[in-house]
Amino acid sequence: MLATLSFLVAKIWPTIHLWTLLLTLLTLLLLADYLKNKRPKNYPPGPWRLPFLGNLFQFDIEVSQLHLGIQPFVKKYGNLISLDIGNISSVVITGLPLIKEVCTDMEQKFLNRPRIPSRERVFKDNGIIYSSGQTWKEQRRFALMILKNFGLGKKSLEQRIQEEAQHLVEAIREEKGQPFDPHFRVNNAISNIICSVTFGERFDYNDTQFQEIMKLLDETLSSAAPMMLVLYNAFPSIFKYLPGPHQTDFRNWEKLKMIVASIMDSHRKDWNPDEPRDFIDAFLKEMTKYPDKTTTSFNEENLICSTLDLFIAGTETTSTTLRWALLYMTLNPEVQEKVHTEIDGMIGQWRQPSTDDRNSMPYTNAVIHEVQRMGNILPLSIPREVIADTTLAGFHLPKGKVILTNLTALHRDPKEWATPDTFNPEHFLENGQFKMRDSFLPFSIGKRACPGEQLAKTELFIFFTTVLQKFTFKPPVNEKLSLKVRMGLTFAPVSYRICAIPRL
Ligand code: HEM
Ligand SMILES: *[C@@H]1O[C@H](CO)[C@@H](O)[C@H](O)[C@H]1NC(C)=O
Ligand SMILES: *[C@@H]1O[C@H](CO)[C@@H](O)[C@H](O)[C@H]1NC(C)=O
Repeated sequence: MLATLSFLVAKIWPTIHLWTLLLTLLTLLLLADYLKNKRPKNYPPGPWRLPFLGNLFQFDIEVSQLHLGIQPFVKKYGNLISLDIGNISSVVITGLPLIKEVCTDMEQKFLNRPRIPSRERVFKDNGIIYSSGQTWKEQRRFALMILKNFGLGKKSLEQRIQEEAQHLVEAIREEKGQPFDPHFRVNNAISNIICSVTFGERFDYNDTQFQEIMKLLDETLSSAAPMMLVLYNAFPSIFKYLPGPHQTDFRNWEKLKMIVASIMDSHRKDWNPDEPRDFIDAFLKEMTKYPDKTTTSFNEENLICSTLDLFIAGTETTSTTLRWALLYMTLNPEVQEKVHTEIDGMIGQWRQPSTDDRNSMPYTNAVIHEVQRMGNILPLSIPREVIADTTLAGFHLPKGKVILTNLTALHRDPKEWATPDTFNPEHFLENGQFKMRDSFLPFSIGKRACPGEQLAKTELFIFFTTVLQKFTFKPPVNEKLSLKVRMGLTFAPVSYRICAIPRL
């Protein structure tokens, strides 16, 4: 009897022990989570949160970007809402006055980017897009200088864009009016512009190796693992060891870095410091200026990360926008016809469109702006982080909180736009003239706004008019086109097929 009892106790004890241990651990974790995310006095209001997961489950899970579903909260809580994405506590800002206040803050209290574990794992705090402080200042200034210099070089960037647009026209012509998916050809064409700046070359659309890179990039940026990434960001030290789709993402990022590293190596082989061919050459030269490596961000790691940042930001955003443009033209034939009429009147069929034409083409210009408004490819811009305790609209924002600016709310504000949810170029027209609108901020504003804005606008105008000069876009017979969104780094159209009918 006693023997059985002691046997039982002996058997059960270790498990009880384990359970108490686990319970204690959980309690401690909960306590830590509570303390970490405790909302200080006068903090912006928001919905209640779950431990570890924050407000994630109050939204459509698939939508890790929280695109939809927050509307009722804005009504309830106002223009500053606290929301926790996993354990990253953030505040969402709605409305033009507040967005302006944050982005153009004179004291620069919102200039940092948050340190997000999944990004840090690949980039550390290097590069342009997610860096902060001295590294960011140096890397951004340098990138802006190179973008400017290579634009003003022997063969201007605009001329390169015009040539690339012709290549794209030829590639589309090869489809002979049959249904095709423009995705990767458009990506390749747009990417070639930033490639010519960063790598000093363009890649043929039939270059299988470059196509692999485009596919890898697409796969990485439209990651299938948003939920795993949220969990990884909440518990990096645990999820680092767990298998899952987030591991594929990390492997893909490493592959992208290796590709840039190998291009850097081949640049070193035929490098001439007196004749920089591109961003990488210029960066290699910059590195030689600082013998003391500890005082500068111009090192190999930043070379790779900044190049990759430019390559990605310069490829994904603009090509996604151009793909939205082709889709909206196909779905709105009457708009497309007016664009055709304007092109025929101002440029004709033979001359190559250039940015000089923009001022005399208000309708086309308005259409491109409307595509950007509706496409709204970065609905929450790119997160910022509060540098030091501050107040905003009367609320207390402690150092380290993440700030998200809601560009969707701005671009779809019913008070600002006549038909907020419908494609309508009239939004940017007044008495037949182009009219810029304050509530249009796809590139954000202020010191941390998109440094590629000018480049992107030039690309969009020239690619769009050149392609529309040559083709009429139509939906394939019996195929229904949709405006459904594919989430990822950017909000892109789901893949679609169109027919490009030559106009002559
Ligand atoms: C339609 C095209 C584009 C859109 C809508 C867009 C939009 C944006 C937005 C909203 C930001 C965040 C700004 C902020 O935090 O306030 C950004 C940052 C950035 N963009 Fe763009 N962008 C586009 C094209 C480009 C191009 C072509 C390049 C290439 C040169 C580029 C390079 C960058 C970089 C490097 C940053 C990070 C800047 C920083 O953190 O200081 N973008 N972009
Ligand atoms: C941003 O605003 C839009 C439109 O008001 C809303 O549907 C969306 O949920 C908001 N997103 C966030 C994260 O606040
Ligand atoms: C790609 O096409 C171009 C002409 O359009 C041709 O010169 C080149 O050899 C082709 N390259 C490959 C790898 O097929």
